[in-house]
Amino acid sequence: MTTVEPNRVRVSLGERSYDILIGSGLLTRAAAHLKQAGLSRRGVIITDATVESLYAAPLQAALHAHGITTGLLAVPAGESSKSLRQAHRLLEQLPALGLDRKSFVMAVGGGMVGDLAGFVAGTYLRGLALVQVPTTLLAQVDSSVGGKTGVNLPQGKNLVGVFHQPRLVLADTDTLRSLPERELRAGFAEVIKYGAIYDADFFAWLERETAAALRLEPAAITRVVRRCCEIKGAVVSQDERESGLRGILNFGHTIGHAMEALADYTGLLHGEAVAMGMCAAAKLSVKRAGLPAGEAGRLERLIAASGLPTRLGQKYEMPALFEAMRLDKKAQAGQVRFVLLKRLGEALISDAVTEADVQEVVHECRG
Ligand SMILES: NC(=O)c1ccc[n+]([C@@H]2O[C@H](COP(=O)([O-])OP(=O)(O)OC[C@H]3O[C@@H](n4cnc5c(N)ncnc54)[C@H](O)[C@@H]3O)[C@@H](O)[C@H]2O)c1
Ligand SMILES: [Zn+2]
Repeated sequence: MTTVEPNRVRVSLGERSYDILIGSGLLTRAAAHLKQAGLSRRGVIITDATVESLYAAPLQAALHAHGITTGLLAVPAGESSKSLRQAHRLLEQLPALGLDRKSFVMAVGGGMVGDLAGFVAGTYLRGLALVQVPTTLLAQVDSSVGGKTGVNLPQGKNLVGVFHQPRLVLADTDTLRSLPERELRAGFAEVIKYGAIYDADFFAWLERETAAALRLEPAAITRVVRRCCEIKGAVVSQDERESGLRGILNFGHTIGHAMEALADYTGLLHGEAVAMGMCAAAKLSVKRAGLPAGEAGRLERLIAASGLPTRLGQKYEMPALFEAMRLDKKAQAGQVRFVLLKRLGEALISDAVTEADVQEVVHECRG
C-alpha cells in the first residue's frame, strides 16, 4: 500500500511555529503525526456528541495502537456548549485523567469544539499543548488556525478567551463527507472570502472549480483547504494579535455579525450571514474603494453558485442593523469599521463608511 504524503502548510510564529497537515486518512495515521510533532504519549480528546459518535472510537483506537493513551470528554453539539459552564465542567474532569504539563488536548470537531477545547487547553495548568483536528469546512479553513480560543457570554459571542496557538493541526478532508450539505456550503463563504481579500488567481480558480470542491473531489477540496490555510497562516504570521492586517479576515463580517445578532444566532448559519455581508460589502467597495462594478458582480455570482444567499431578507432593518454593528466588539469606540475591496484579491480597512452608505446598500441588497 502506498501512503500519499499529506499537504503541509507551515505557520511561522518563531518558537510557536506549527504545521497544518491536510489530506485524506490523517485520522488513521494521527499517532505518527503526533510523534513527529514531539507530542507526548498522554492526552485528552475533547469533542461534541455528534462528532464523538462518528470519529472518537476509531481515532482513540488508532492512537492506542501506537502507545498513545487518551481520555475522552464530550459536550452536547451546538453553539450553546461554547460556554463557561461547559469549560468549567471540562476543566473539573481533567485532574482525574492524570494529565501533566507535557500532556496534550486534542480538539476534534467544528469551530465550537475548537474554541472551547482550545480555551481549556490554554488555561489548564497554565497551558497544555493543543492539537486541532477540525472536522467542518469552516474549522479546516478558518477557526483551527490562528490561535484564537474562547467561549461566549450571555452578553455576546467570544467575550472570554485567550490566544493559544495549536502545536499541530490535522485537517482530514475525509471527515467532510459526513458533514450536512448546508454546513459545507456555509464553510464555503469563508473560502470565497480568502480569494476576494487576498488572491485573485485563487478566486478565478474557484469560479471554475467550486462545483468539484463542493462534491468533495479529493484534488479540489484539498487545494481549497490548503490555499485557505496558507493565506490565513500568512496573515496570522504577520499580525498574530489583530492590530492591523488580520482585520482583513473580517471581510463581510461587519454586516454578517450584525445579522447574526439580530437573528439571535438562530436559523442563520455564520457562513450564510457572511455571504450576504460580503455582497453588501462589495457594493460599499464599489462606492468607497473603487472596486469595479464587474468584480462585485463576479463575487455575487460565485456566492450564488455556491448555494449561498446573496440578498438580505426583509427582517434586517435599518437602523437596528447599524446599531448592532456599532455594538459589535470589533467596532472601536462606536466607530464601525469595514473591510472593503480595491479589487478582487486586495482589501483595505476603512473607517469612512457612513450610516447613509450602509442604508443605501442595504436597500439595494433587499429582495
Ligand atoms: N477561533 C477562530 O478563529 C474562529 C473563526 C471562525 C469561527 N469560529 C467559531 O467557530 C464556531 C462555528 O464553527 P462550525 O461552523 O464548525 O460549527 P460547529 O462546531 O457547531 O459544527 C457545526 C455542526 O456540525 C457538526 N459536525 C462537525 N463536524 C462534523 C462532521 N465531520 N460530520 C458531521 N457533523 C459534524 C457539529 O456537531 C455541529 O452540529 C463558532 O463558535 C465561531 O465563533 C472561531
Ligand atoms: Zn467567519
